[in-house]
Amino acid sequence: MLSPHGGRPFGADRHAALLADPLATLVAARQLHGDLAVLTDGVPVFSRRLGAAGCVAAFGTDAVREVLLDASTFGPPATLAERDGLPPVIGALSSGVFSMSGAVHRRRRRAFGPLFARREAGRCVEAEVVGGGWRPGEVIGLVAEMNRLARAITGRLLFGAGEATPGLGDACHRVFALRRRYAATSVSETGVRDRLYAELGDVGAGLHEGLRARIRHHRTSGAGDGLLAGLSRVRDEDGRLLSEGELAAHGSALFLAGSEPLAAALVWTLLMITQLDDLRDELCAQLRSTEGVPELLGAVVRESLRVLPPNAVMVRVTTREAVLGGHRLPDRCELLISPFVAHRAFAGEARAASFDPGRWRAARPSAFEYLPFGAGARSCLGRRPAMGALTGALAEILRRWDLTLAGDQEIDWRLRATLVPANEVRVLVHEPGRGRAAGGRVGGPLRELVRLP
Ligand code: HEM
Repeated sequence: MLSPHGGRPFGADRHAALLADPLATLVAARQLHGDLAVLTDGVPVFSRRLGAAGCVAAFGTDAVREVLLDASTFGPPATLAERDGLPPVIGALSSGVFSMSGAVHRRRRRAFGPLFARREAGRCVEAEVVGGGWRPGEVIGLVAEMNRLARAITGRLLFGAGEATPGLGDACHRVFALRRRYAATSVSETGVRDRLYAELGDVGAGLHEGLRARIRHHRTSGAGDGLLAGLSRVRDEDGRLLSEGELAAHGSALFLAGSEPLAAALVWTLLMITQLDDLRDELCAQLRSTEGVPELLGAVVRESLRVLPPNAVMVRVTTREAVLGGHRLPDRCELLISPFVAHRAFAGEARAASFDPGRWRAARPSAFEYLPFGAGARSCLGRRPAMGALTGALAEILRRWDLTLAGDQEIDWRLRATLVPANEVRVLVHEPGRGRAAGGRVGGPLRELVRLP
């Protein structure tokens, strides 16, 4: 029985509550139990690990630090391919850096880190169509547009300037979209699942071969300016180049890990800007009078990643019995860490849910209190290019266009791996300086996550 508080677990009924409304349930659990809360006993929530011993949330900064620094005791959850028995090629494509552990994971991070640190994704932005096809007076679907943009930026970052369209990025996206459809299809729909399984095998094989061909090309020509070209030249400790299969897995996993949160962060940030008229006017005025990235834009991005962090919940599973914050945890215990909850705690209860970039003039949270890119042993290697891509894309968009919400809209959200809008967000495009009149207002469930005027 899991009971760090010496009493009953948070409640078996919380399993359903966590799935239905994970963020409100986590906020409530923190208020009720403090630094460590038992959420379920004997049932995993997010980890997909069959036979998990239960689920515990670590909220206190010390507990968060302990979990994130000790990657060998608190390991990664099972991949979708492991849990759902996906075609072998999908398993192979899912075994990138995210599912590695132990010494090999540490070696890969050491080898890959410098390549990521040198990447300037900001320069990937201008060449891509940042609202290039938009017309004044047009209503665009912000979610679709930002997904398209984030995929283009991530594709270019990973696969280089010569990346054709449709190219490897589109193939990665197709595989992930199919994987999600497969996972969401009920086991009773045997016919549909069989068809999706076969399609996944075919599309996955095409992607695997395409990535391996690109890696061979990088190796034989020595050419290529994307991350994959750099990774193709990395050698393991024994001096051997990494296998084509391993690199293909890194390529496809990195595409998903980069494009999804980038798209979410772009949508949330632009949505917040449409709701705060004074902020929008000041930000646009600053951007249009300078070529650089004004400090205010940096603060807006930091605040957006605080209030609506794309990775709102991170999952670990204990690899052995462990002690956390003085409490014993069994082997195979699922652990949740929530940047969403942590970001509210350091901001102070009263103003936690307000979108206020001004707080960043004084706020200096520690790495384990503000962690939109994770922290510790598995922190985001793509943080620098991701920040460059976010500020670069937002600057480019806001210099070219005024955006307002096309009428009042109910905006819902959902949390899968990433915190994303659950419905399309319709936005009206104006020429610069023409969209000053107040646009539509956000209503609906998003208002439970963030306080808006
Ligand atoms: C706004 C954009 C992004 C956000 C919010 C974000 C967030 C995160 C977070 C929270 C983690 C830690 C996950 C955990 O500990 O469970 C992570 C890890 C990682 N991310 Fe990002 N990320 C972003 C963009 C990118 C991009 C563009 C790339 C590269 C193309 C990337 C590559 C990675 C890698 C390699 C790891 C480390 C995996 C490991 O060692 O297990 N990320 N990211």
